Amino acid sequence: MSEKADWNPLSQQSLADPIGTDRELRTTCPVAYTDAYGGFFALFRHEDIVAVTRDRESFVSAPTISVPAAPPGSPPWVPLQSDLPIHRFYRRVLVPFFAASRLQAFEPQLRKMTNELIDGFIEKGETDLAAELCLALPAKAICLLLGLPLEDSVKLEKWTYDSIEAGSREGGTAEKLRVLGELAEYGAQWLERRRAEPADDVISAMLAAEIDGRPMTPDELTGMFLLLAEAGHETTSNALISSFYYLAEHPQQRAWLVDQPEITPEIIEEFLRYCAPVRGLARTATRDVVIGGRDIPAGSRVVLMFASGSRDEKVFDNADECLFGRDAVNHTTFGKGIHRCLGEHLARLEMKVVLSEFLRRIPDFKIAGPVQPAMWPTTGYRSLPVRFASNR
Ligand code: HEM
Repeated sequence: MSEKADWNPLSQQSLADPIGTDRELRTTCPVAYTDAYGGFFALFRHEDIVAVTRDRESFVSAPTISVPAAPPGSPPWVPLQSDLPIHRFYRRVLVPFFAASRLQAFEPQLRKMTNELIDGFIEKGETDLAAELCLALPAKAICLLLGLPLEDSVKLEKWTYDSIEAGSREGGTAEKLRVLGELAEYGAQWLERRRAEPADDVISAMLAAEIDGRPMTPDELTGMFLLLAEAGHETTSNALISSFYYLAEHPQQRAWLVDQPEITPEIIEEFLRYCAPVRGLARTATRDVVIGGRDIPAGSRVVLMFASGSRDEKVFDNADECLFGRDAVNHTTFGKGIHRCLGEHLARLEMKVVLSEFLRRIPDFKIAGPVQPAMWPTTGYRSLPVRFASNR
């Protein structure tokens, strides 16, 4: 263990300028240690992050991948908080529902919902883009994915926000447990409903699943539901919020985008690289290892700084520039290896729809007030007030 902490993710500087802080540590201390949350290492370089995701002997994701750790007794958020061989069984249940071809069918509904949200503020000439669009739409997309009533998206939105807020501060454990308890109770009602009336949806597939020859336990069902309800929300929201922030600050690129016949997959990929919303998630070292010349003792928690990997200058030329023409696919925004994000195609689809519909109707907008940075371990903004003159 190191003798002194190299950084503190909860410091004002780290929270206010996560990208600048990560850039500096990537250069000066790429394997850093912090005393925060009981102590953990953090890896800032692309190559170290990728190496750890591939070394399944030395690093595991069970029982927890979050720092601070999930409260004791929490259901396992599977497949995220599991390892091989059982991880394969959990993932198999979900894969068909996340196929790009299946998700494509959501596009018309996502466009309609996006336009309804824009209708709600376009006449005002100003809005908080975070609250009124970027947080609202991904919550609706999760309802579509899970087969839940669309009007429940407002409740989902609040549970996700409140649980992240509580989890990102020291002493917030009891509040986090309370919020997740409410979400789990809501999930239990839907599990019961689908047990009685199965449908062609994710929840029914979870109930019918065989995990190594047995059904999923109540704890596994709850944990998988919590993961599905939460994983795709603040992530996609913050990717969108940061993209809009960037476009507000870069009118020339925005004007170029407005003139494009469509927002191509390359452009979305570059936004995902540049605006990576997951700052870091953890593994636990199963044995003593050395990374970047630094000893990491068995039992240490090691956070993979995914957003930093996506800005690594050794992999991406001019990494701090958002270049729409670049080949960005090797970013670490969605992780790598067996836990690579299952929702990546849904996230891309949401981004394409929201950015293109918004720019079509509101091609010119400016930031209209102070923004609040996102909470650890996300990057982005909690609010994004904008003003716009023209509308269509
Ligand atoms: C821009 C948006 C998103 C980002 C940046 C993102 C990021 C990530 C990352 C970094 C991981 C890997 C974590 C690790 O290795 O420990 C992950 C896994 C996962 N994500 Fe996403 N995610 C996004 C959207 C979504 C959406 C929309 C869903 C839909 C529910 C989703 C569901 C999942 C699931 C189920 C896993 C676990 C996969 C496994 O463990 O096998 N994500 N995501």
